[in-house]
This record gives sequence, structure tokens and C-alpha cells, in this order.
Amino acid sequence: ISCSTSEPQGFCAVGYESDCGLSSEKILIKGGTVVNAHRKEVADVYIEDGIVVSVRPNIKVGDHVKIIDATGKYVMPGGIDPHTHLEMEFMGTVTIDDFFTGQAAALAGGTTMHIDFVIPVNGNLSAGFESYMNKAKKAVMDYGFHMAITKWDEGVSKDMELMVNEHGINSFKFFMAYKGSLMIRDELLLQGLQKCKSLGAIAMVHAENGDAVAEGQKRMIDLGITGPEGHALSRPPVLEGEATARAIRLANFVNTPLYVVHVMSIDAMEEIAKARKAGQRVIGEPVASGLILDDSWLWHPDYTTAAKYVMSPPIRTSGHDKALQAALSTGVLQLVGTDHCAFNSTQKALGSEDFRKIPNGVNGIEERMHLIWDKMVESGQMTVTDYVRVTSTECAKVFNIYPRKGAILEGSDADIIILNPNASFKIAAASHHSRSDTNVYEGTKGKGKVEVTISQGRVVYEDGKLKVTPGSGRYIRMPPFGYLFDGIEKADAAYFASLNAPIQRTKSAA
Ligand code: URP
Ligand code: ZN
Ligand code: ZN
Ligand code: ZN
Repeated sequence: ISCSTSEPQGFCAVGYESDCGLSSEKILIKGGTVVNAHRKEVADVYIEDGIVVSVRPNIKVGDHVKIIDATGKYVMPGGIDPHTHLEMEFMGTVTIDDFFTGQAAALAGGTTMHIDFVIPVNGNLSAGFESYMNKAKKAVMDYGFHMAITKWDEGVSKDMELMVNEHGINSFKFFMAYKGSLMIRDELLLQGLQKCKSLGAIAMVHAENGDAVAEGQKRMIDLGITGPEGHALSRPPVLEGEATARAIRLANFVNTPLYVVHVMSIDAMEEIAKARKAGQRVIGEPVASGLILDDSWLWHPDYTTAAKYVMSPPIRTSGHDKALQAALSTGVLQLVGTDHCAFNSTQKALGSEDFRKIPNGVNGIEERMHLIWDKMVESGQMTVTDYVRVTSTECAKVFNIYPRKGAILEGSDADIIILNPNASFKIAAASHHSRSDTNVYEGTKGKGKVEVTISQGRVVYEDGKLKVTPGSGRYIRMPPFGYLFDGIEKADAAYFASLNAPIQRTKSAA
């Protein structure tokens, strides 16, 4: 990295506050391969005041512009993680990463925006929103919110309108599992789907049959299986497949788009494939853990090691991971999240006598971009443009913030990463940026390294070092009626028109 103006030796230091006036607001990325979901090209990218100003070869700039040489490297939109849980109260504790540590970790791994799940306070949406806006005051990068719906009444229904029309939320998550806490029943799901449709908001589901999970857990405890392996055994893929199919059918009945979060099994993936083939608007989100790991860890003799892999739906047996990878590369599943929901080993120890008490969740916000590059692109399973689509662009499109996010185009936010395909990464709890003392990808090595992260037009990560400012993260409002809603009303009109031909019945004499 250098300055565009030549100065006496030692005068223009590389960095923000250099004597030469090198501006953090003006950056030229030179000679890299710029990748968008629709094309890749060798070009320069010029950034000013947080916005991409120009993308073309041989851009000439004025004085004191930060020059980054990206020759031989990929210049891509920063990752957008559609699924995280920062500072979430859950299962008797609070996730260990807050909006500072979680986002710092994200930036170090090439993710420049995430969408977190607001959990209502005692079912109250407005209180939940306020609480999360407070938590996010220390944000260091851009973020948006989904909101969970955990109960149903007139107030919740009205508050959904408020969230969409005043607060920039365009998606609501319904938990079909976690009986006794977050779980909702079909009646509520149906109400929620209808309300989402009327608001142009995307309905999201955590698809597992919560009643059957509770039965499965009891079965394991009765058998004396109390360790982390009991977690996987108690909630098999069939329960994920059942709930996925049920949610898909209810969304079909309502005729509204559905987003299935953390697709972990072949069973769920095949339900999504079937529905999409039949023309239904269903989005499937696999997460890094489901694409990379298998459940053998849950049988590890060391409790702390085994417990860190407990998440729901569970990480599945080997084979599900490869099938999910194939589904992602062929477009059956559309985008990748992490479900970053990190706990440290002391928190995981809450379930050392009973797997039902192990806080559910794994890390991933820092690792996703590297893992997906290595597993999908480096292996030859996925093109570089598709990598951008599944890690960034599709998320921006689904949640209606494209092309401000998810693209390197004139006028887009300057959230950009530079990835060196010839460098390597290694994952370790000792060097990661999460506050957790463990990492489910401990020791994983791979090819392709994010060397520079630019967020809001500022270099926030380079040479292995983070430069972040608490409070600099912005809340990104996401407007309703994204592309998934295009034409929905036409299909409704056609359906209702088909019902409108009254049948003339004659009264029978008898
Ligand atoms: O185990 C998980 N997935 N924890 C986070 C909550 C959720 O279900 O997304
Ligand atoms: Zn200078
Ligand atoms: Zn979930
Ligand atoms: Zn989650």
C-alpha cells in the first residue's frame, strides 16, 4: 500500500494519519480481478467517501490517494452473513460475542455486514428492537436485523407493521423447535405467514419438529445417554425434513416466500429442491458448520471438545455435508450463513450432566469466507462469481439492499475484500478474534486468504491487523417487498379469478 504522490523518503508513511495527508477516504485498488456475481474483469476500483466511484481499467487519480496493488488477487464484495446471534440471551446464558468482538472477528475474516436476529423481550417486539439497537451501539461495521416472533396477539401483529414500516426490518423468524421457550405452533406460523405476506416481509423458519425433539430427548435420557452425542441422536434429520416440508406447504397455502435458515440435512434440502422445482419461492440457507463438519465430534471422549459442536439442527453424519455442498454449487440452496452463536467452554459446561442444557451454537462469522472459498472454489466445485453470489450478492438481493450491498458497482458501498488465492489460512482459537476460548474449526488449514478488508470505504484489516472504531457501524434499513414478492399478487389474482365462476345448481325435487 502506498500514496499516489511521491514524497521524500520516509515522509509519506503508509497509514491513515500520515504527514502527507494520505486520506482514508480515497482509495485506489489497482490491477486486481474484480468479481461481481454477474461477471469478473481485471480492473481498478476507485473509492471516495465510502462509496465506489469507478470500476474500470487504468484509473488515474489525483494526489494523496491510498494505492493498494491487487495484482494477481481477487477484489470482491465483502461477505454478508445473513445469520448471526451476537449478545443473545439463550439457554440460561448470553452468547459470548457482542457487536464489538463479533463484528471485529467478521471483518478479520472478510465479512463486512451481517444480519442478526432480534429476540423480543417477553414477546414484545418494540422492546426487543430497542434492546438490540442498544447492544449495537458498539458496532464496528454495518448490520441489519431480522426479528423472531415468539407469541401471537394483536399487539405483535401491529408491532410487525411498525418494524417493517418504521424500523427497516423485512424478515421474521419462526422457531418450530425449542419447546417451552422460543417454539411456536402451526396456528401461529400460519398467522405469521399471512402477516408477513401482507407486509412484504420474508418469513424465515427454524425447521425442526419441536414436539418430536422433546420426545427424542426423553428417549435418550431414559436410555442413560446424557452426553453431547445424545443431542444428535435425539433430533435426527427426519425431524428437520418433516418441519421443512410442513413450513413449505403452509407457505404454499398462503402463497408467500419462505426462507429456511440453517439447512443441515439432505432431508431438508430435498424438500426445498422439490418445492423450488414446482415453482415455489423457497430460499435455503446452509451454514458453514453444516457444509464443512460432521457429527463424529459429538462422540469425542473429551466433554469440552464434544460440547462445542452442539448446535440445532445438529451437525449431521458425514455425507450430509457433501450433499449440501453440491446443492449450494448447483443453486438448489442459494446463500451461506454461519449461525454464529458462540459460547466459551465454561458456558458449554452447563450441560456436562445433561446434553439438553448445553447452550446450542457454534462459531463461524470469522471463518465463513475462508472455509467456503477453500471448500467450494479452491476444490473446483464453484466458480468465483458464484462464490460472490452465495457469500454476499444473493443475501443483498433477498433482503432488498442490492446493489448498495453485495456488489462492486459505481454507487455501491465500499465494502470490499482482497483475497489472495495463493496464500493460506489456518484457524485456531489462540489467534481468532472471537471472545470464545474454543473454535469448531480448530487446526483447519486451507488455501485463499483475505488480506485486506475495506468497510465503509476504510481499510479496517490489513497485514493481519484490525483497525476498528466502536460506534462506526451503521444500522442498515431493509425495505419490504424485495424481489421474492414480484408477481405474488398476480398469482393470487389468477387463483381467485379461477374461483369466481359461480356454479348454477338446480334444486332437485326430491
Ligand atoms: O444452535 C443454534 N442454531 N443456536 C442459535 C439459535 C438458532 O436456532 O438459530
Ligand atoms: Zn501521501
Ligand atoms: Zn435456529
Ligand atoms: Zn440461528
